[in-house]
Amino acid sequence: MFRKFTLAVVAALTVNVGAAVAVVVTGSITDVEFAHEGPFGKFDQSQLQRGLQVYTQVCAACHGLKYVPLRSLSDEGGPGIPEDQVRAYATQFTVTDKDTGEDREALPTDNFPANTGAGAPDLSMMAKARAGFSGPYGTGISQLFKGMGGPEYIYSILTGYTGEEKEEFGAYVYQNSAFPIGWIAMAPPLSDDLVTYADGTPATVSNMAEDVASFLMWAAEPKLMARKEAGFVSVIFLIILSTLLYLTNKRIWAGIKGKKTA
Ligand code: HEC
Repeated sequence: MFRKFTLAVVAALTVNVGAAVAVVVTGSITDVEFAHEGPFGKFDQSQLQRGLQVYTQVCAACHGLKYVPLRSLSDEGGPGIPEDQVRAYATQFTVTDKDTGEDREALPTDNFPANTGAGAPDLSMMAKARAGFSGPYGTGISQLFKGMGGPEYIYSILTGYTGEEKEEFGAYVYQNSAFPIGWIAMAPPLSDDLVTYADGTPATVSNMAEDVASFLMWAAEPKLMARKEAGFVSVIFLIILSTLLYLTNKRIWAGIKGKKTA
């Protein structure tokens, strides 16, 4: 029975690795050690707050976050912004009221606004929609343990500009080592000291990229920590249950199994 079980586990793992390898991106991706990675990983609250700042002051100019409710900024496990501050934060956005059809200041009950002006994709799900580091050697082992790596992809895009640009069909494109086709229509959005962090973290391109990537992972999967916790509890539960079932099974059949048939 155990032999069969082991075989099934091995088969399941192989299928997983196969699936991970199938979505290799051609760009070059840097492996970043995010706080939320691994089975016990948790979002780093100050990092989420810094990431929110980068998103608000830089990315929001072109990218929307239309599926993310503003009120979730004060949820546990997220950036943890106090409710009164979320209320104040929301007022900088203008949304169209669903009932009156008129524009008004956003409330915590609204979502972040959509932004289609610059032709930039919405970032609500971006961290889940892209795959990152699939190493070592393209085996996908890292993804098996740390997740698909969308935030690493975002980090790598933001730090992957080579400085080359060219005009294509009347618009500028910028060479980027992480973007699968090599040239991206987004001008390099970050430069050193573009924002001023309240907690004194140096605002290098790399730090800002990591912070905003982590924030976007939270935006795409705000219940990541709860999900990991539930997963962990169920694994423990299953281990205890299987032990009990195994022992019960032994006990029930003990009288019959031990006997030699004449
Ligand atoms: C000046 C406008 C502008 C700003 C500011 C900007 N972006 Fe973009 N971004 C774009 C455009 C346009 C695209 C589409 C590029 C393309 O498809 O070639 C894009 C694409 C992207 C992509 C998608 C790449 C893909 O795989 O499709 C990501 C991720 C991204 N931006 C992240 C960010 C982050 C994070 C910030 C803030 C640090 C930011 N952007 C700031 C205009 C902007």
